Amino acid sequence: MVACEFQPGLEGIPAAQSQISFVNGQVGKLEYRGVPIEALADNSSFLETAYLLIWGEFPKSDDLDAFQEEITHHRRIKYRIRDMMKCFPESGHPMDALQASAAALGLFYSRRALDDPIYIRRAVVRLLAKIPTMVAAFEHIRKGNDPVRPRDDLSYAANFLYMMNEQEPDPFLAQIFDTCLILHAEHTMNASTFSARVTASTLTDPYAIVASAVGTLAGPLHGGANEEVITMLAEIGSVENVQPFLEEKLATKSKIMGFGHRVYKVKDPRAKILQKLAEQLFDKTGGDPSYEIALALEKAVAEKLGSKGIYPNVDFYSGLVYQKLGIPTDLFTPIFAIARVAGWLAHWREQLETNRIYRPSQVYIGDHSLAYIPPESR
Ligand code: ACO
Repeated sequence: MVACEFQPGLEGIPAAQSQISFVNGQVGKLEYRGVPIEALADNSSFLETAYLLIWGEFPKSDDLDAFQEEITHHRRIKYRIRDMMKCFPESGHPMDALQASAAALGLFYSRRALDDPIYIRRAVVRLLAKIPTMVAAFEHIRKGNDPVRPRDDLSYAANFLYMMNEQEPDPFLAQIFDTCLILHAEHTMNASTFSARVTASTLTDPYAIVASAVGTLAGPLHGGANEEVITMLAEIGSVENVQPFLEEKLATKSKIMGFGHRVYKVKDPRAKILQKLAEQLFDKTGGDPSYEIALALEKAVAEKLGSKGIYPNVDFYSGLVYQKLGIPTDLFTPIFAIARVAGWLAHWREQLETNRIYRPSQVYIGDHSLAYIPPESR
């Protein structure tokens, strides 16, 4: 084995061979199983895309119907999970609630052999089905209300919006939300996917894998950035304030949330699609300046930081879309998790195919052979 130099953040070091997704950050290209993200956003549904990611091929019509039916059937969560969620502090972050609830699923659905296709299928279905229900349930529980039961006659996206708002959504809004889920479903070897694969490599259960990935996604440098984008746009407040805000951030070497990406050195292709969705939503509903401020900020950042390859990432416009859909800011990252569970599960299956437990090395830079000093002499 050839020893290689330490790379902070493992930048440029392949952590797996994968057939799940492909990114070319120089030209802004993203494909799931070889299919361009634009084609999926225009033509597919989230569940069809999840099937494609997890099983490696588009489902035939009957297979898609069966998959959707199974997921609809498994949307409900056990009373004991709901009761456990009632014990969570209402001030807790929904990502922490989701991480705990996802891990708790593992207590209820016992482990079986990882080469059992029925177990794998059931775990995939349960996680895709129940995570949205758990996210919506915590939203109601923290307000002191009972969760809204899922409705079997609604699509995946429409049912989630229904469970959140207790009213059937406009089909246009449900369609937009479904497209957002497609865009967030997978993105090569990012931090949470790496976390999922490391956990999967120990041959633990898929609920532990998803819980581990949710914990990783929660950080502000990963999934948490879209929450911060909304706070930032509110702080800017007007198009006139964009320039002074940016100058001040650059002077203090602060990061502008929703910009920059380890891989993309041009505008993230998902941000392009999300921008169009945001534009449609703001056209339809109007009423606040955030979209105009976002456009002005994008232009100003491109002028100042474009030469460094700093352009909007997926989080920049997704927060605006979710806000317009009436979703509370601290649920943006849990919604990211609802979508990304498809990618994590695809990586779980792929990891199992040729598993070797992750065990990287480190470069020790500490001392050696120091004497033990008793506490009273320190
Ligand atoms: N605002 C201002 N400058 C930036 C930004 C930004 N958002 N992002 C990177 N830069 C600058 C850095 O200051 C650095 O400049 P320097 O070379 O003069 O020191 C250079 O660009 C390289 O940046 P790094 O931080 O080294 O890039 P890295 O690949 O490590 O980080 C990251 C990528 C974490 C996404 C970073 O761009 C960032 O913090 N962005 C803001 C948070 C964000 O939007 N996160 C969501 C990412 S998408 C996702 O996770 C789904």
